[in-house]
Amino acid sequence: MTSSRRPAARRRIAVLRREAVLATVPVAVAALLGAGAPTAAGTTGAAGAGDPYFPLSGNGGYHVRHYDLTLRYDTSSRHLDGTAVLTARATQRLSRFDLDLKGLKVTGVTVDHATAGFTRSGQELLVTPRHALHEGQSFRITVTYNGTPKPVTDPDGSADGWIPTDDGAFVAGEPQGAMTWFPANTHPKDKSSYDFTITVPEGRTAVAGGILTGQHTAHGRTTFRWHQPEPMAAYLATATVGKFTLERYTTPDGIQVVNAVDPREARDAAPVLKKLPSVLAWESKLFGPYPFRAAGSIVDHAPDVGYALETQSRPVYDAAPDLSTLVHENAHQWFGDSVALTAWKDIWLNEGFATYTEWLYSEQHGGPSAQKTFDALYARPAGDDLWAFPPGDPGSGKNIFDTPVYDRGAMTLHELRGAVGDRAFLRILRAWASEHRGGHGTTAQFVKLAERLSGKNLDALFHTWLYAKGKPDRA
Ligand code: TRP
Ligand code: ZN
Repeated sequence: MTSSRRPAARRRIAVLRREAVLATVPVAVAALLGAGAPTAAGTTGAAGAGDPYFPLSGNGGYHVRHYDLTLRYDTSSRHLDGTAVLTARATQRLSRFDLDLKGLKVTGVTVDHATAGFTRSGQELLVTPRHALHEGQSFRITVTYNGTPKPVTDPDGSADGWIPTDDGAFVAGEPQGAMTWFPANTHPKDKSSYDFTITVPEGRTAVAGGILTGQHTAHGRTTFRWHQPEPMAAYLATATVGKFTLERYTTPDGIQVVNAVDPREARDAAPVLKKLPSVLAWESKLFGPYPFRAAGSIVDHAPDVGYALETQSRPVYDAAPDLSTLVHENAHQWFGDSVALTAWKDIWLNEGFATYTEWLYSEQHGGPSAQKTFDALYARPAGDDLWAFPPGDPGSGKNIFDTPVYDRGAMTLHELRGAVGDRAFLRILRAWASEHRGGHGTTAQFVKLAERLSGKNLDALFHTWLYAKGKPDRA
């Protein structure tokens, strides 16, 4: 069966074994190591990045510039050994700060090579460096940890994070699963470059994003090294492990492609993956240059997962994707990955854009026009799920992957296109991708940009399509 990421086709794992609540390690050691540093709230990094949908996701007080992750995964025992080295910068004075890490056992933390105190509290790993960090200080955190990673269950019931499969693990962290396999500042507000060194039993392959910089087999194990140079949100990191066939080539634009395919999905995947260079070329023509040095696909056989994810520079699919899913996940490379969210409430900037790209692809490749797709959706009665909530305000983390975000989000862009015309519409999408390339964007910034480039007041349009409750009336 081929995979579609459409919500209707999504299979969810309704009930996952709830993770045992971790016993909290005594805090005395951490407190002692504070060495007299003031413990006023003003010098403690916040436990979350301030996102009401996922209040504990991310952390305050520092920015991670780079993650260097060294992992060893035993596919039969499902045991993971990890060392994470984070290069960070304090954005305030810090006597203590948090990382997100759920489950797993931490065996040591150092800050700038000095042993640091640490304690656990739910998904927070609280670190007390020997000396308080001053605002603007660069520092290096090393965390050694191990255990059997388990996925987290999202508010909508889906599994997210390190998801074991019969031959390895499907690893996808949206919105909060990164913390199931490495200690991180997991909110997409914080973007970082990454290096991955992943050791797996010989015969298995470990695939991350970015460039494959090394592969080495010794004593029955193979180590894969991947380098992701462009800034990436933690949820877009993967280290998917399985029995994969690797295909490598460089596109005429110089993009290094790696496709990793589970042989059980190879037959269905082949005709779709063959189109990847032309899909990327078509999307580049529309949106501007592809934002990363690397590209590709990870096609796993993970029948329990039920969705694909736009992992940066190399989407991961739970099964051979259909063409529209390939178009969707690669559109996210511009919209969601290169231009990232600052708040999960703005999720339509990811899903609405990737969905609208599917509509445009269809329109320009002999399928139904975007207008036709719009009309078919608009014909749905007022009580349909499509109108359950406005896409600019999903209300909670439970709704962020529901049909209003995808389909009404795409309808919003179609209305914008109708209001400003094709030329201005494409100019807006291109400017969005280039002006925010490698960074972030908010809905308010998108509206402003659309108004600036079209010379039109679009407040009513965006209000109606993004924020008004219920099925909008046609203008
Ligand atoms: N962002 C993915 C896509 O649309 C979908 C997705 C990621 C998802 N994680 C999820 C859907 C968790 C449901 C649950 O391409
Ligand atoms: Zn998507």
